[in-house]
Amino acid sequence: MSHLKKLVYVSQSRLAAAEAERAVADIVALATPRNDRLEIGGALMFTGHRFAQWLEGPAANVDLLMRSIAADVRHRDIQIVVDCAVELRSFSGWGLAFGGRSLVVDRHLKAALNSGWAFADGDAARRLERLMIELAHAQWPGRTGVGAALAAAPVTG
Ligand SMILES: Cc1cc2nc3c(=O)[nH]c(=O)nc-3n(C[C@H](O)[C@H](O)[C@H](O)COP(=O)(O)O)c2cc1C
Repeated sequence: MSHLKKLVYVSQSRLAAAEAERAVADIVALATPRNDRLEIGGALMFTGHRFAQWLEGPAANVDLLMRSIAADVRHRDIQIVVDCAVELRSFSGWGLAFGGRSLVVDRHLKAALNSGWAFADGDAARRLERLMIELAHAQWPGRTGVGAALAAAPVTG
């Protein structure tokens, strides 16, 4: 069996404002059963301008799904900010952790986007991870687990 990994990316939406809510609902409706089948957990965030998504599960399945997502014309400038093996899951399911226009949330996504792959373990990526876990926890308290506590641990040093 393939090992567990997590992958977090940020991207720019190509959805027009008028169709965005509907399009995101379509993505979630399609993604939820597919992610379940692939044993993929995590969370999606959408701010009107940008997406951020956390995917975790068997490495081969995460990579397979990421190839579909990367080819999707509904977003562009996909930037992977975290891609690493994990021992524990942070989420026990998958869903939309945040969907709405928020400058505060969007600022975190923009910072992670600007930090880039070279700073994959840097502060912006860590702050984005913590924000996703906090929003997911507020939304579905039962769905974030032991790995979430580790991922949300304060950055030291
Ligand atoms: C921002 C974004 C996130 C997405 N997340 C998922 C996801 O978690 N799971 C999923 O099955 N599809 C997701 N999709 C849809 C996929 O990109 C793709 O359209 C769908 O999986 C069908 O893939 P296929 O055409 O390769 O079969 C997402 C699309 C976008 C734009």
